[in-house]
Amino acid sequence: MAKFLCRALFVSFLAVSLGTAADAQTNPVKSIGNVNNVQINGQQVKLTTDNAHAEVTVYSPSVIRVRIDKQPLGRDFSFAVIASPEKTKANVTESANDVTVLTDSVKLIIYKKPFRTAFYTLDNKVISEDEKGLTTSWVNESVTTYKHMQPDEKFIGLGEKTGGLNRRGSGYTHWNSDTFGYRTDQDPIYSTIPFYMGVHDGLNYGIFLDNTYQSDFNFGASNNRFSSFGARGGEMNYYFIYHKKVADIITSYTWLTGRMKMPPLWSLGYQQNRYSYYPETEVMRIAQTLREKKIPADGITLDIHYMDKYKVFTWDKQRFPDPAKMNAKLKDMGFKLTVIVDPGVKVEPGYGVYERGLKENIFVKYPDSTNYTGEVWPGWCHFPDFTSDKARAWWGTEIKKYAADGISGIWNDMNEFSTWGQKNPDNILFNYAGLGASHLQARNVYGFNMARASFEGFKNAIGKRPFILTRSGYAGLQRYTAIWTGDNRAEDDHMLLGVRLLSSLGLSGVPFTGMDIGGFTGNPSIPLFARWMQIGAFSPYFRNHTAVNTKSAEPWAFGEEVLEISRNYVNLRYRMLPYLYSTFYEATQNGEPVVRSLAIDYTHDPKIYDTKFENQYKFGSSLMIAPFIGSANYGTVYFPGGDWYDLYNDELISGKQEKIMNVSMNKLPVYVKESSIIPMQSLVQTTAEKPTDTLTVHIYKGNRNNSFVYYEDDGESYSYENGAFYKRTISYNAAQKQIVFEKAEGSISSKFKYLKLQLHGFGSNANIKASGANGKVSTEFVSLLTPISKFDPQGTANQAEGHNVQSMIISNSNNRVVINY
Ligand code: GLC
Repeated sequence: MAKFLCRALFVSFLAVSLGTAADAQTNPVKSIGNVNNVQINGQQVKLTTDNAHAEVTVYSPSVIRVRIDKQPLGRDFSFAVIASPEKTKANVTESANDVTVLTDSVKLIIYKKPFRTAFYTLDNKVISEDEKGLTTSWVNESVTTYKHMQPDEKFIGLGEKTGGLNRRGSGYTHWNSDTFGYRTDQDPIYSTIPFYMGVHDGLNYGIFLDNTYQSDFNFGASNNRFSSFGARGGEMNYYFIYHKKVADIITSYTWLTGRMKMPPLWSLGYQQNRYSYYPETEVMRIAQTLREKKIPADGITLDIHYMDKYKVFTWDKQRFPDPAKMNAKLKDMGFKLTVIVDPGVKVEPGYGVYERGLKENIFVKYPDSTNYTGEVWPGWCHFPDFTSDKARAWWGTEIKKYAADGISGIWNDMNEFSTWGQKNPDNILFNYAGLGASHLQARNVYGFNMARASFEGFKNAIGKRPFILTRSGYAGLQRYTAIWTGDNRAEDDHMLLGVRLLSSLGLSGVPFTGMDIGGFTGNPSIPLFARWMQIGAFSPYFRNHTAVNTKSAEPWAFGEEVLEISRNYVNLRYRMLPYLYSTFYEATQNGEPVVRSLAIDYTHDPKIYDTKFENQYKFGSSLMIAPFIGSANYGTVYFPGGDWYDLYNDELISGKQEKIMNVSMNKLPVYVKESSIIPMQSLVQTTAEKPTDTLTVHIYKGNRNNSFVYYEDDGESYSYENGAFYKRTISYNAAQKQIVFEKAEGSISSKFKYLKLQLHGFGSNANIKASGANGKVSTEFVSLLTPISKFDPQGTANQAEGHNVQSMIISNSNNRVVINY
């Protein structure tokens, strides 16, 4: 027995010691280990662990940053983050087992054995905590933090990512890629925004991993234990954001990464494009046809064929002999021109852009100091290193010639960056703000920095707001540019995916977004095109685009009925511009998006994550869109809490219910939230045309209080930053039965002399009185769409195009006006 025991002990000793030895040698996972030193300095804590260095900094009561590296932390630099820690009350205390960081909003406990973070509400509910036993670790240079996955946790956001609204069960990679005709579940595509939000148990938080290496996110893909985020190199560097409301998390995230500036008003008008309109006569034909067919439009976009053999900053002089003259003609017709630019500079001795680039020495290089050469549209090219100040300044100088040609917008394409073969070498080198980086670290911020160079250069060149569009980007891109979702397909699923992409970008701090309306590759069916135009009218950037060698895809290319439908919705878009422009203003102030995923306002209503309803979104704060495919005859809409009105006939629909609706190609289902305030103007054919002097403000009766900030400025300069705007808060007070127009703010006066209030759902006998202004009440018929029943022989689809409302016209003084009902 003793002999047996001895042997057993010996065997187990051998196993343990061999096992341990073998583990140490073969276990490639390096854990962070135990905390062995803590230094508290105000709102920052520095810690060393067995294997790493960490720093935890309170940025604001709701934002805490965690940095961890195997080596002492390096220079702190970010392309994305523009905020510095705010001086804030943070109580940091240390005990034998942990360090506690307490702010007015959140409690972080850093456990010491091993290092593990856990974020709690002030009443000790777990918001997010490292997964015990996994916490943070490395495999070679890849670093990952593992968070315990809460039983009912949902994940939203993460930028331009395919898939569903709720990302649980999926994994994603950020590695900016040119993905022509991507599948609806393809990952990665063009852009990197490593910011997501977790939702569980009535709580929600955000995590922004600011690391530009390839990054990977796992929201319970192939595991039921953790959600994780990590990168293939560099530091673990993340910001934890906690607020009670998702909208506030987005506000804090955009406090960190910046907000957009006001876009030029014209860029919110309809834009017509294809790959490619040329020569000049064709561009003019498109412009004239838009006017003749009365499709309001503001923009025409030129794709790569305008250039001389695709060489950036050149014109094909056969096709466009005098661009400045053409632009002057277009301007007279109320159009602005946007041109595409690609980063590749053709290697061609004698080509000025190339020669100057060589001289300035701004191209991306191999380690042996030769310029990297890759092939793209113009042939073999060098690529400006946009991560350097010098290259961006050089680009800004080159871009000036477009200002002289009368161009108003710059469309940055192929900036992932894309080359034939789609495999840029790891060993090409970038300046990376003076820090130096290989392709592995720089790729994901290449497009961001190209858009930034275009924004800064072109803004200087034209002295007013430029319109900048990009395909690729990184967190914070909203400071410089709008983004579109690249080469989608003319398929129903792609249109619906596009809606989710815009919703997800909105959750990720990007308000100015769009997709190729009509689909880029392939030819849309008639119902698909009609529906896509309607959805386009409810997208921030509204551009029709299609690939080379596809059929024509202008609104008139699908027959009379589709032309009529398109016109109806483009008209509606133009009439909605005051609402949309004000919504953009809100985005500049608080980062809240224009395409508002229902997860913003109805975060904890599980229904909105149902795949049946995940495509529904709000356009601004008041309108909910249910984007069924164009060929559907009926569809189920989910109405979240509160009452809703059918936009077209004012039918009142109570919330918290699913409802089967008849739908048709002619009408996009749109619903107005109760108590909404929606300012609209008269129809114009271009934003260069003045609307009539009456601003129509639609007000929908409801049970909740609400307010809307109405905003105007000159639409093109930055003088609004110095007070040259007109702004007025309009509020709806359900309990007091009052609508209040607060005193106007800002140094300019409104372009509207009169306010026409259109009161929906108030009944025809309501006793409406204005004080502070003279008002006359009448009842009138409101119709948002031109009747299109001539195409509907049965007369079923368009029966209720309008409805009676009470209206009242008052003069638009700057005084406070109170309306009682
Ligand atoms: C890329 C762009 C597309 C453009 C084409 C030609 O595929 O994504 O929008 O039309 O290049 O420039």
